[in-house]
Amino acid sequence: MAKYIVEQSGPLVGEVEISGAKNAALPILAATVLTEGICEINDVPRLRDIDVMCRILRSLGAKVDEDWETHTIKVDGSGISVSEVPYDLVKLMRASIFVMGPLLARLGKASIAQPGGCSIGDRPIDLHAKGLRNLGAKILMSDDLVNASVDTLKGALVYLDFPSVGATENIMMAATLAEGSTTIENAAEEPEIVDLASFLNKMGARIKGAGTDTIRIEGVKALHGTRHAVIPDRIETGTFMVAAAITRGNVLIKNSVPDHVRPVIAKLIECGAVVNDELEGLRVRGDVNRLVATDIKTLPYPGFPTDMQAPFMALLTTVSGTSTVIETVFENRFMHAGELSRLGANIRVNGRTAMVPGDKRPLVGAPVMSTDLRGGAALVLAGLVAKGKTEVSEIYHIERGYEHFVEKLSGLGAKITRVED
Ligand code: EPZ
Repeated sequence: MAKYIVEQSGPLVGEVEISGAKNAALPILAATVLTEGICEINDVPRLRDIDVMCRILRSLGAKVDEDWETHTIKVDGSGISVSEVPYDLVKLMRASIFVMGPLLARLGKASIAQPGGCSIGDRPIDLHAKGLRNLGAKILMSDDLVNASVDTLKGALVYLDFPSVGATENIMMAATLAEGSTTIENAAEEPEIVDLASFLNKMGARIKGAGTDTIRIEGVKALHGTRHAVIPDRIETGTFMVAAAITRGNVLIKNSVPDHVRPVIAKLIECGAVVNDELEGLRVRGDVNRLVATDIKTLPYPGFPTDMQAPFMALLTTVSGTSTVIETVFENRFMHAGELSRLGANIRVNGRTAMVPGDKRPLVGAPVMSTDLRGGAALVLAGLVAKGKTEVSEIYHIERGYEHFVEKLSGLGAKITRVED
C-alpha cells in the first residue's frame, strides 16, 4: 500500500494551477448517457473516481476515449443498451448512482447496486428515489439493489426535504427527457449543479434556475452531443488556500473562481490570512498577521462547504485560541479529528461539534491514516507544519479527488514524497 511521507516544510511559496472539478465532471459524464450523440468533455481531472465513471459508461455500452494529454474525454453513447451497474463498480464509487436518472430517461430502466454507507455517514438515496418516483418511475429498493423502471417519465413538482446535491442532479438529468415540465424545489445550489445544467442545456435541454433553490426543466424529445469544459475544482482551490495559510506561506492559486469559494475566503480572513483576487488568480498569504481562532459551521452552498471542514480544521489546530467546528451536512464527518489528535491537536468531539484548542499544543509528526478523501488531505496539510515526519497511509482516498497532489505541493516547496510500502 502506498503512503505519503510528509516533513515539516516551512512556508509554501509560488503558484499552483487548479484542475477541473471532480464533482462536476462525474455527473456530466453520467449525463452523456442521455444522448446517442458524441460528447466531448474538456478539463477533466485524471482521478480514480473519473476512471470508475468511464468504466461504468463502457459497461453500459458507450465508447469512451480518454486523452490525458489534453484532459479530454469523448463519449459516444450510441451503443448504450445495458441498464445494470453491478456492485463491483458501485463499491468503488458512490457517485455510480448518478447514472440512474439518465438510464431511466434513455432506456426506461436502471438496476444499480445499493451504494451503502461510507465513512462520513449513512448517505441514503431516498431523495433520489422520491424525485424519480414523482416523475412516474417505479423504484424498488432492496438491501443490495435499486431497480427502477418507467414507460414514460412525466414532468412533476419535486420538493426535496434536504437540498441534496446528488438527488438534484439525478432528478434534473431524468427530467430533461420527461414529458412536460418539472420543478425541483429546495434544490441544491452548488456550482457543480450550475455546470451540469449548462452542459445539459448545450445538449438541447431546457433548464432554468440552476444555482437557485428552484430549478425548472421543460422536457424535450431528445438531446444531442456537445462539447463542454468542466469548471475549476473549488474544493481543491480551498485546500490549497488552506495550505498557504497553515504554512504561513504566500501562494497564487490559478484557474480558480473566487465566487465559488466565498465562505472559505471569509473564514480565512477572519483567521487573519490575507486573500487578494488578482488578475491571474487568488493570492493567499498566511505570513502577514498572527492567525487566530474562528468558528465554522458547514451548510449546503452558499454556506461553508462540508468538503472544506477537515482541511480547515487542520488550520485551526495551528492558530491562537480555541475554535468550534459544527458539521451539519454529514452525521459522521469527524473521523479525521482523531487522526489530527494523534499529531497532538487534542480535538474534542461531541456529536456534531468539535472543539479545536489551537496552537497551545504544537503538532508533532506521527503515523496517521486517511479516513476519507478530505480528511486525508487535512492530515497532509497538518503534516506540513508538524515537527518531524508524518506518515499518511490509506492515501487511495486522497488520490480519488486530488490530481497530482504531491507534485503540486512539492512545486510550492512542500517536503512530501509518495512511497510504496
Ligand atoms: C456530493 O455528495 C459530493 N459528491 C460530496 O463530495 C459532498 O460532500 C456533498 O455533495 C455535499 O456537498 C459528489 O458530488 C460526487 P448530498 P452527495 O446528497 O451528492 C443526505 C467529496 O469529498 N441525503 O448533498 O452524496 C446525505 O446523507 C464528496 O468530494 C439524504 O438523506 O451529497 C447527507 O447527509 C464527499 N438522502 C446530505 O443529504 C438522499 O437521498 C447531503 O448529501 C441524499 C442525501
